Amino acid sequence: MSDAMGEPSTSAVSAVADPADTEVEATLRPRRLTEFIGQPRVREQLELVLEGARRRGDPPDHVLLSGPPGLGKTSLAMIIAVELGAAMRVTSGPALERAGDLAAMLSNLLPGEVLFIDEIHRIARPAEEMLYLAMEDFRVDVVVGKGPGATSIPLDIAPFTLVAATTRTGALTGPLRDRFGFTAHMEFYQPAELEQVLRRAATILRVDLRPDGAEEIAGRSRGTPRIANRLLRRVRDYAEVRADGAVTRAVAQAALTVYDVDDLGLDRLDRAVLNALVRSFGGGPVGVSTLAVAVGEEPATVEEVCEPYLVRAGMLARTPRGRVATAAAWRHLNLEPPPRALAGSPAPPAAGEPPPALFGL
Ligand SMILES: Nc1ncnc2c1ncn2[C@@H]1O[C@H](COP(=O)(O)OP(=O)(O)OP(=O)(O)O)[C@@H](O)[C@H]1O
Ligand SMILES: [Mg+2]
Repeated sequence: MSDAMGEPSTSAVSAVADPADTEVEATLRPRRLTEFIGQPRVREQLELVLEGARRRGDPPDHVLLSGPPGLGKTSLAMIIAVELGAAMRVTSGPALERAGDLAAMLSNLLPGEVLFIDEIHRIARPAEEMLYLAMEDFRVDVVVGKGPGATSIPLDIAPFTLVAATTRTGALTGPLRDRFGFTAHMEFYQPAELEQVLRRAATILRVDLRPDGAEEIAGRSRGTPRIANRLLRRVRDYAEVRADGAVTRAVAQAALTVYDVDDLGLDRLDRAVLNALVRSFGGGPVGVSTLAVAVGEEPATVEEVCEPYLVRAGMLARTPRGRVATAAAWRHLNLEPPPRALAGSPAPPAAGEPPPALFGL
């Protein structure tokens, strides 16, 4: 991500893992289902799937974990293997470029093992087709040779459980989605659940986290444990350098101001988008490309990085005619919402999308 001046800026509230997260997350990952906080529905359903399989002595159905980044999909995949007492092999959609890569992984599986495919929506088509048969019949067809002389040799593979994760269920093909016996939709976490995540992380990282400090950080974590844990680390630094080490509400507030994270968890770009929408376009409706130009960002960044949380926080509405600021957005910028924002019905004229030729889009 870059800001309007073209300088790189890593947001403290990005849900996507950065290299620093990866290292510490390994120590913070819950290991067992009972340690996994929140997601009560998913946890209960998964408990039944795993217990049923245990009693029958079969590998459980294939599991699809879907949801936004940082909500615990990888953690849950690892927990499934631990709960089954099975080894786990890990790969990802982008790594399975050729069907042969997948065939090699599948034929090396031992009975009952878990194969974890992260970012499954990015799997290449031939590998995906191979996966259908593997998931259904525990078989792969290995193609030998090329062109008209090519023959396919069926090969039995060990019964296994596929656990796949995706941030974009919509990008999966129907046939692939249908082959999962169980799909877990991960939801954003409630503030109280994030406080629990924070308390657990504070114990592991030996941070003196006070209840009001936990509440303050949880409220700014955008419903996402990864963000909560990252903000805790930033606040800890501040607490150690500029205070006495204790993470209180006042320390959390001061620290997160330094990192440009406001009381709702909005960062600079989120606020820039709201500001442009409200101040430059009168609250909208305005097309996403126009909005993106106004804040000096790619439309995809605005659409995929900012908007989901702004929509969820009730600040921005996506309408067929463009993006509209809600009354809450005006208030968040300390402005009086106009009557149409209060009524929830945006008024014309629409600022609309620019003519495509204008921006070469
Ligand atoms: N339910 C939870 N309880 C406690 N900690 C959690 C929970 N869910 C996630 N976390 C924490 O958040 C971090 C990120 O979770 P994880 O890597 O599993 O997310 P993910 O959904 O796989 O993200 P991505 O889409 O980026 O792969 C974990 O290391 C863990 O510390
Ligand atoms: Mg993951």
